[in-house]
Amino acid sequence: MNSTHSMSPPPAARWRVPFVRPDLPSFVEVEPAFRKIFAGGSLTKGEELAQLEAAACARLGAIEVVGVSSCTVGLALGLKALVHMQGDEQRDEVIMPSFTFLAGPAAVEWAGLRPVFVDCDPAAWTVSPASVAAAISPRTAAILACHTFGCPCDLDELTSIADEAGIPLMIDAAHGLGSRFRGRQVGSEGFAQVFSLSPTKLVVAGEGGLVATSSPEFAALLRRLREYGNDGDYSCSLSGLNGRLPELSAALGHASLARLPEVLRSRASAAAAYLNVLDGVPGIGVQQIAANASSSWKDFSITINPDEFGTSRDAVRQVLAAQGIDTRAYYSPACHRMPAFIRYHSADRHLPATDHLAARSLSLPMGAHVSPAVAEMVARALLDARG
Ligand SMILES: Cc1ncc(COP(=O)(O)O)c(C=O)c1O
Repeated sequence: MNSTHSMSPPPAARWRVPFVRPDLPSFVEVEPAFRKIFAGGSLTKGEELAQLEAAACARLGAIEVVGVSSCTVGLALGLKALVHMQGDEQRDEVIMPSFTFLAGPAAVEWAGLRPVFVDCDPAAWTVSPASVAAAISPRTAAILACHTFGCPCDLDELTSIADEAGIPLMIDAAHGLGSRFRGRQVGSEGFAQVFSLSPTKLVVAGEGGLVATSSPEFAALLRRLREYGNDGDYSCSLSGLNGRLPELSAALGHASLARLPEVLRSRASAAAAYLNVLDGVPGIGVQQIAANASSSWKDFSITINPDEFGTSRDAVRQVLAAQGIDTRAYYSPACHRMPAFIRYHSADRHLPATDHLAARSLSLPMGAHVSPAVAEMVARALLDARG
């Protein structure tokens, strides 16, 4: 049993500082839409979904946005649609970071494809463009990058690698609503970007996802796949799933999207407070966001070097948990070491930056409850855990 599991956290209700609390709109903001749904009885495939898709499309600068039941389903159906459009069965590999959430490789597998795990950049923690370029082969169907913790991946480099190889760039943008690259909200770059609306994200729908794309053909196929693959006559030429986003969720997601600028400001001030105390402390590393980018701060994460800091990441987690402060050791283990995915990874492909981060990264509380004062208190408690 590792130390993450042996830590005995207090029950969720007793956390003094929970890891996350959703940034919900007030009930008054969603009430008119909820009343309309109840009065009309249209629970799925209705106006609320269309309105959310249109609002997201305008905000993201995409050609089309397709609402789905989750980011995981959006990724799985999106990859399946993309491979179908390529029409080349030899291409069954998806190049992706290992330092990411397990939903990514799970979606790749559900689409009938194989993840090829590559390393991440040791400073930005997003996928390393050089590692992606080195892994391209005649079997590559797609590159699946990720805006890790809200930090945009290197869209310039990845786009030019993808374009040069003639391979579509898809992005797991689960953390990306509100992230900016070259002054613009991310969402229009690459072939498609898939956002999550689950409760830990900045925009929430209960559960849900948004697929933004520059390809109307892809969007049309995805709309079919989120309806089981029904061709319209209850026959099916390519199987899908029930991947629909219900009307109540779409209404909540729409009201939540309208609050995104406010939520971004609040997360940025919490991140600034964390950085103010932690940046530059010997043994603590912070994610390096490029000068032409900004993070949504879906998560505020650091690394702890036990030799320099004097205490390990897992021991710090224990000390904070004893004070009622909930944290996460995200992506530990990294995907290429998980029992479900290890068979896709060849032992001679080393991912040193990934292994380094997986052993040291620590995500601190973030969300509606984390004011700059709370962030400062958590950061100081973390420093007090030093050996
Ligand atoms: C990087 C990443 N990708 C995908 C997902 C899956 O999103 P969803 O829960 O909407 O399926 C998550 C969820 O947190 C995530 O963090």
